[in-house]
Amino acid sequence: MSNGLPGLLRKSLKDIPVKGFIIPAGWTVMLVTATSHLNSDIFNDPFEFNPWRWKDINADVVSYNFMPFGRGVRQCPGADYTKAVMATFLHVLLTKYRYKCCFKFF
Ligand code: HEM
Repeated sequence: MSNGLPGLLRKSLKDIPVKGFIIPAGWTVMLVTATSHLNSDIFNDPFEFNPWRWKDINADVVSYNFMPFGRGVRQCPGADYTKAVMATFLHVLLTKYRYKCCFKFF
């Protein structure tokens, strides 16, 4: 339901009409990327915690609705590198260490 990225910032270069309103030239606009996760046209029960929500959705639809690395011409060039680092980190963390529960119940 969330997104590591709080939002994408852009500056309007000209007046932009949106649904009866005008975003004046020079304003800063913030796209809150996680709001795309709450679109009930795309997701069933968008307010449910469901890590599998992406599993059966077309890759094109995912790319417009999950934007941890931004989107378009300013998309993060470090995305693939970051994914490789995260996969390596998780692999080492889960395969090279042993874990035990430290919670004490009663
Ligand atoms: C978890 C790690 C990272 C996240 C979540 C992340 C996220 C992002 C996002 C959302 C943007 C687009 C900002 C926008 O459109 O306004 C961006 C841009 C950028 N990122 Fe990352 N990034 C990550 C790691 C990295 C790494 C490791 C590098 C370099 C090695 C990198 C280099 C850049 C650069 C240079 C841009 C600017 C691209 C441009 O404006 O043309 N990022 N990043």
